[in-house]
Formats: sequence, C-alpha cells, structure tokens
Amino acid sequence: MRTTFVAPLTPDTAREGQRKPAATPTASASSGALENAPVVTPKPVKSDVVLAGLDLGTNKTCIKAAYAGAPDLLASAVIPTLVGYTKEGIVDNLLPGNAKLLFGQEAVKNRLYLRCVPPLLDGVIEDMSAAKDFLRHVRSLVKADPGVELRAVVGVPASADRTAREKLLVALQGIADKVALIPEPFLAALGVRDESRIGDAKYIDPVRNSLFVDIGAGTTDVCLVQGYFPSADDQVSSSFAGDRVDAVLADAIRKQYPNIELSLVKVRELKEQFSYVGASEGPASASVIVGGKMRRIELTEIIGNACSQLLQEVFELVKTAISRASTDSVGELLQNIILTGGGSRVRNIEAELQRLLVEEGYEKPRVQSVGDNYKEYVARGGLAAARQARDSQWQRPGA
Ligand SMILES: Nc1ncnc2c1ncn2[C@@H]1O[C@H](COP(=O)(O)OP(=O)(O)OP(=O)(O)O)[C@@H](O)[C@H]1O
Ligand SMILES: [Mg+2]
Repeated sequence: MRTTFVAPLTPDTAREGQRKPAATPTASASSGALENAPVVTPKPVKSDVVLAGLDLGTNKTCIKAAYAGAPDLLASAVIPTLVGYTKEGIVDNLLPGNAKLLFGQEAVKNRLYLRCVPPLLDGVIEDMSAAKDFLRHVRSLVKADPGVELRAVVGVPASADRTAREKLLVALQGIADKVALIPEPFLAALGVRDESRIGDAKYIDPVRNSLFVDIGAGTTDVCLVQGYFPSADDQVSSSFAGDRVDAVLADAIRKQYPNIELSLVKVRELKEQFSYVGASEGPASASVIVGGKMRRIELTEIIGNACSQLLQEVFELVKTAISRASTDSVGELLQNIILTGGGSRVRNIEAELQRLLVEEGYEKPRVQSVGDNYKEYVARGGLAAARQARDSQWQRPGA
C-alpha cells in the first residue's frame, strides 16, 4: 500500500525559523561550509514536546529540532558521523576535557589518539554500540528543558529493508520517546519544497512529482517522489558515485605522473576543488608535496574525464527511473529533476544533465541542484513532517 505521512500541504504546515531558499541552480563548490556548529536560538517558544528531523548519514548527520508549535529552531547541526574512543595509554590532558569519547569533528581532529568507529556503513547501522553513543551525543545537542518528550522523524534509505529499520529503532531507544521512519528522498522533497509557493499554479511541488538524484560517496540513488512514500521499486541505484570518481582520478594521476603518489584524501580534496563537467572554466593545476618537495600537476583533463563518467552514469539512471514513471506523470516529472548529495556540487552538472536529456529527445526537461546546503534537506523535511504528524503516526522505538 502507498502511504504518506504528511497531510496535504498548506503554506503554514512547516514553518521553520530559518527559511530555506528555493532549490536554485548553483555551481560553486564549498563543502567546508557544512561543518557548521550547533546553533541555539535565544528564546524559543517552549512546550513539553520537542520535534526533530534527523538524517543519520553514513558520513554526516544532520539534526534540526524545535519546540512543538514554535517556528524557531532549538538546534541545527551537521556533524561527521564518527565516534572516537581513546586509545590505551594516552597521556592525561592530551584530548579536550580529557575525554574518553569524542564525536564528529572533534573525533576527526584527534583521530591519531583515538580508535575511530563509523557507526554506519552504506546507510545502515554497522556498529550498534557506536551508533548508540553517537545518537546520545546528537540528543545532547538539543538543549531542551529536562523532562520534555522528544519526537523524531528519522530518514531511512528508500532501499532499507526490515533489518535496517529494526536496527535503527533499537539504536533510537532511550534517545527519542517517539519516532517515525520515513524514506530519505521523500523527506528531501519535503525539505526543498518552497512552502510559500504551494497553491501557485506554476509551482510543481517536489513532494507531488519529482525525480531526486542523490549523488553520494558510496551510491548514486535516483528516486521517483510522487506523493507517497517511495519504496525500493521507485529507486534505481548504482555504486558509481563520489568514491568511484576518486578511484578513477587516482588511477589517471598515477598514469600521468608515475612518480607522484597521492593519498586518497588528497585526491578527493583536489576533485572537490576542481570538479566540473562540460566546458572547463579554467586550468586545474595544483601544487602537491611529494617526498617533501613541491610539485605542480595539471589535472584539467583528467578531472573532466572522471566527472564525465559520473555524469554518464547519472544520465543512465535517470533514463531508467523516468521509464518507470506512469505516462501521465512524466511531463511534470521532467520539470522537477533535482540533484542533491555531494556529487551535485560538480560544476555544471545540472546544465550538462539537462543537455543530455534534451539531446535524447526528452520534452523540456529542467534539472536543478539544491545547492550548498544539500546536507540539511532531509532533516529539514523531517522536521516539517514531524510538525504535520498525527499522534497515531508515531511509534515508540523498540515497542
Ligand atoms: N565540490 C564537489 N565536487 C565533486 N564531488 C564532491 C564535491 N563536494 C563533495 N563531493 C563528493 O560527494 C561525496 C559525498 O557526498 P555525500 O555527503 O552526499 O555522501 P554521503 O551521503 O555520505 O554518501 P552516501 O549517500 O553514498 O552514503 C564525496 O565523494 C565527496 O567527495
Ligand atoms: Mg547520502
């Protein structure tokens, strides 16, 4: 059965203190801006219930929370999904607060002294104990009054099976009082929806009809969002995503510069700095230190080639997904192709995908990218869904 969690949408159903811009086609790449610290608004309207949208991602986690009935955010944070446990024999006072346990950016910064455990693998909880520790930390970022009830809408991959959902519910025990698990592409659509334009005849509501293209590190997922919760059948996925681009790039650099050995972290950094498809907008040349000496390398062509392979893969997935949509909905769907995930920051990718679709004969396709804050939309949509949820739609984790 097809289900939706949210009521038909009206402009006042999902007020959020910090209004998002509508999905905008942008090209500038800036991943660092996402590492924002928790924001605590000064005087939120209080109630005995706090609502939250939670995107527990493989690499990054985003939470947005507010008191029920209040427009202002109580907490908003994007943090690396990582737990660091202090290694044996570390001298006192080496770590901040002499901590035994560090999370997120702190764990990344001090990783030399820690046993770092990523709680998730490919979107699914892999280490339950680390997941629980991490979620306790995330919960502590929501500085609500003691005794309030926390209700969280949590994103799950559209492809998540029963085991993956059950693991998530176990991890959420003792963290949230009530939860609802909703497919991530649906929440992303809810998060990018421009509430102010609902009712505008020209606005195609992404929740009603859109194609979400999430280009991540491990997978690229293309999902039909057509007014109900998408299932595995509504999604096509490929393991050709950011990590694979890194591998292609590393290989090409090795071939062109056999004496230069770059770490995968460095290769990724260069990719994020210079990524593009279509016409290059300037030379991609970088200085790298090899064996203590500075070398200059020219990467324009090889970065363009690696990113083009990603574009081609996205194009194939999009064609398959479109072929699965009902004939009646396709015209509108083509107007609402929305790119998200880190791979959507490749310069020109939206314009190039649109060009390929036009060349293939699709009728007036329109491809947009959600922009720099791509990490926030699932949590934002989660909070919107939480604000619209009826009592019967919540469950107790573990109940
Ligand atoms: N400016 C950029 N250009 C190209 N790739 C980028 C850019 N910024 C980030 N990326 C890539 O995007 C990927 C990370 O995207 P994202 O954060 O959406 O992944 P994820 O949600 O953790 O992964 P997954 O969805 O596969 O579990 C990485 O491969 C990263 O290198
Ligand atoms: Mg992702």
